[in-house]
Amino acid sequence: MSKPKVFITRQIPQAGLDLLKDKVDLEIWEKNEPPPYSILLDKVQEVEGLLCLLTDQIDQQLINQAPHLKVISQMAVGYDNIDINTATIRGIPVGHTPGVLTEATADLTWALLMAITRRITEAQEYIKQGKWTTWQPMGLLGADFVGATLGIIGLGRIGQAVARRGKGFNLKVIYHKPRRLYPKLEQELGVNYVSFEQLLKESDFISLHTPLTERTYHLIGENELKLMKQTAFLINTARGGIIDQNALCYALQQGQIAGAALDVTEPEPLPKEHQLLTLSNVIVTPHIGSASYQTRFQMAIMAAQNLLAGLQGQPLPNCVNPNIY
Ligand code: GLV
Repeated sequence: MSKPKVFITRQIPQAGLDLLKDKVDLEIWEKNEPPPYSILLDKVQEVEGLLCLLTDQIDQQLINQAPHLKVISQMAVGYDNIDINTATIRGIPVGHTPGVLTEATADLTWALLMAITRRITEAQEYIKQGKWTTWQPMGLLGADFVGATLGIIGLGRIGQAVARRGKGFNLKVIYHKPRRLYPKLEQELGVNYVSFEQLLKESDFISLHTPLTERTYHLIGENELKLMKQTAFLINTARGGIIDQNALCYALQQGQIAGAALDVTEPEPLPKEHQLLTLSNVIVTPHIGSASYQTRFQMAIMAAQNLLAGLQGQPLPNCVNPNIY
């Protein structure tokens, strides 16, 4: 019996490929860069399974040009690059990889928070440029954690993992999300629910953990930045589109807020000459929230398991649109 054809849009950790190699007829896009959209369009016409990444645009046109497609399996937790509605209408399940990347992403959030508040990258540059001559009583002073308030927008899996770290650092942690958590969970996490506006006004550090949707697109814009403290820092390890970057650049340049650390931007990568990259109170990293060995290994396994289930007509272990069954 012939094996189902599958296209994988980049090399993924071997653990995932090992699960697939005897069961499917595999084609992998071997280049470092994502396949161009035209190639993706071409490839999906033949395959039954697509294993894709957040860098691939899986839109209505693409899904509708895939007559044999039985499953889309994304190796990421976020899936804003995929037109879920069209996939659902076509009866195609979409898989993703929640859970396994929670701790790694929360760790990176914490690393960015510490790095921007204690000016680690700035200090590193200072040394590399040979500017450091002696210990200075007033040199490179940063923000204090003692008595500070961390505001978390979106308290799902990753937001909660960040809140737990906040508790460990004795921060006061407040949060906002559309649906308030149960009191017992709030208590366990040591978090207090506040309105969106209150969070913006009261937080010393704000960390974003919502998915990117129509509702959260540019959630943080000019008005929101104006409400923040001048001493506040903004951290984003979720999706670039949640922040209006022009408004952020302006706020940073005008001293409306103290700094920003962004693992995600819009677009990715930012053009080399982008204003954000010229500001000393900004850290930008290349979307590495889940980039730890074990995490990516687990993500590849999960993506392969979702793919295999879909090819066999079984419910995906982690399905974004389970209502199709
Ligand atoms: C990474 O951003 C992911 O969604 O997994």
